[in-house]
Amino acid sequence: MAHPLLEYAKAHHVPIIMEDGLSFLESLIKKHQVKSVLEIGTAIGYSALAMASLGCTVDTIEKDEAMFRLAEGFMHTYDIEKKVHLIHADALHYDGPLETYDLIFIDAAKAQYKKFFEKYTSYLNPKGIVVCDNLRFHDLKPENVNRHTKQLLKKIEAFKSFLKDHPTFETVFFDHGDGMSVSQRKEK
Ligand SMILES: C[S@@+](CC[C@H](N)C(=O)[O-])C[C@H]1O[C@@H](n2cnc3c(N)ncnc32)[C@H](O)[C@@H]1O
Repeated sequence: MAHPLLEYAKAHHVPIIMEDGLSFLESLIKKHQVKSVLEIGTAIGYSALAMASLGCTVDTIEKDEAMFRLAEGFMHTYDIEKKVHLIHADALHYDGPLETYDLIFIDAAKAQYKKFFEKYTSYLNPKGIVVCDNLRFHDLKPENVNRHTKQLLKKIEAFKSFLKDHPTFETVFFDHGDGMSVSQRKEK
């Protein structure tokens, strides 16, 4: 039977990570022996709980009040080992305490990925990885979408170029999920 959070997300149209995206994320957690995660974009806590179930501690930031409250309720029921720490804040402006992390998972407002990346990589452990989702954005084509979406597509392309040209991070792009990237600091 599907997980209750997955059922809830489907029934209420909450955007969550795709199944193969989650499998990929889980394989990265195992491969890189990730113990601590910072997630930007909790929604109802589906991916956070999945990562916690692999033994990781997860700090996760959500700005939407309704989503945050839902996540709180779900963590109360399903996060038995209290591995998920929910933070109710706009990740662009959050300046509360954080640890350093083996994995930073960026899965929030697509137009802000560059800002999230720049702000939060200072909390990444030296061998840590940054994973971003939604870089394919459902394979939408600029000629078929409205002006707002066109702007968003431009921002995603600009973010991909930013990653490709980054002086200190190396990035590999994958088709998993809705298009995912994995970035790691270049060896000195
Ligand atoms: C795709 S959903 C996250 C899905 C979740 N990671 C999962 O797979 O279960 C994106 C979430 O990011 C949140 N979000 C968008 N911008 C944000 C910001 N600046 N700070 C924190 N959360 C943000 C949205 O409210 C939304 O709930």
